Amino acid sequence: MTTETKPTIQFTPDRLEKAKEIIARYPEGRQKSALLPLLHLLQEQEGWTPAEGMDYVAGLLQIEPIEVYEVATFYTMFHINPVGKHVIEYCRTGPCCLMGGEEVYAHLRQRLGIEAGQTTVDGQFTIKEVECLAACGMGPVFQVREKYYTNLTNERVDEIIDELSK
Ligand code: FES
Repeated sequence: MTTETKPTIQFTPDRLEKAKEIIARYPEGRQKSALLPLLHLLQEQEGWTPAEGMDYVAGLLQIEPIEVYEVATFYTMFHINPVGKHVIEYCRTGPCCLMGGEEVYAHLRQRLGIEAGQTTVDGQFTIKEVECLAACGMGPVFQVREKYYTNLTNERVDEIIDELSK
């Protein structure tokens, strides 16, 4: 006799309904195509993508957990570790660096007292380094959720941190 353990993380009823609707968009046997939107749902609910949640998503899609892990770890938009309230993702690619990005990002790290990949002790901010955010003509640039902050200067960084800290 086998006993099935209940996942420690599950979607809320409304998200489960949404997940089922997304999965139903794809033909039978192609449920894996719904993986990215389901990972977004998971991150929206949990604030990050914990392994238990990825296992749950794998179960919903009837795929192996490793198939979820390999996607979640490929895209920097998924947080595979707990993050702060505000995740600042700064572009470290060449064009932004040529526009003064390195100095601005150094100022950001100094202002928050953390390095890329770390979270402030008050849990307010996490910094992540990412590749090109496709706003190269407006660099240096960083992203916080869906919002882009462009043409950054040290002064502008201070203003943004002050605004987000309120
Ligand atoms: Fe920074 Fe493209 S190089 S947005």
